[in-house]
Amino acid sequence: MGRSWRDRLAFFRQAREHYHTTGAIAPSSRFLARAQAGPLARLKQQLDRPVRVLEVGPGTGAVTRRIVRLLDPGDTFDLVEINQAFADLLVRQFTDNPAFARLSDSANVHAVPLQEFVSESPYDVIISGLPMNNFSSELVEELFDAYFRLLAPEGTLSYFEYMYMRPMRKMVSGREDRGRVNRIASIMAKHRRQRRLRTSWVFVNLPPAWVQHLSGTVTG
Ligand SMILES: C[S@@+](CC[C@H](N)C(=O)[O-])C[C@H]1O[C@@H](n2cnc3c(N)ncnc32)[C@H](O)[C@@H]1O
Repeated sequence: MGRSWRDRLAFFRQAREHYHTTGAIAPSSRFLARAQAGPLARLKQQLDRPVRVLEVGPGTGAVTRRIVRLLDPGDTFDLVEINQAFADLLVRQFTDNPAFARLSDSANVHAVPLQEFVSESPYDVIISGLPMNNFSSELVEELFDAYFRLLAPEGTLSYFEYMYMRPMRKMVSGREDRGRVNRIASIMAKHRRQRRLRTSWVFVNLPPAWVQHLSGTVTG
């Protein structure tokens, strides 16, 4: 079995056991990965100093594969993953897979929840795959606080969300869950209003997704 099928199977197994934190049935497509890493690709062309990148919720590494292609040894790459099985799989990639191993001195996998992660310096780019719609509104607030605590004022946060997932979820859920989904929608809308740089639309993904790119500084 090829690596990508092995990764899909590993992802599917973890999604079955830990659906609450995994929040998807398949890893991001390469089109979604490319859209999430767009600001990093542009920054790498502009900056003449090493960059600091944080990936949140890398899973089996569908987006990580795109990030490692853009980075050079000397850049800093931290990965924060709550699921120990995914974290172990990523650590193995940084030793066994040549595309990852060239960054083995620059990359660190942290098997902790984002809300508990601390860093001495801020990041130029944060790329996140967290399934916010699965969480309580209190946790969503906490996770956004963590993003902006860790992001440099001139940095960019890119995260994806499945298109029209919240309205669809509200149609099939009870009153209490609809309240939770509404509270999450308003937290996310507030941050988009205050910080949105742009939105990328990605149709070639299961399901199709939007990538939101937000600024480290309040602009609106
Ligand atoms: C939808 S999957 C995305 C995986 C991958 N980025 C992709 O696009 O295929 C969500 C990932 O977030 C991780 N995760 C969930 N809650 C987290 C948290 N609080 N801190 C860090 N990682 C978390 C899950 O274990 C899972 O790997």
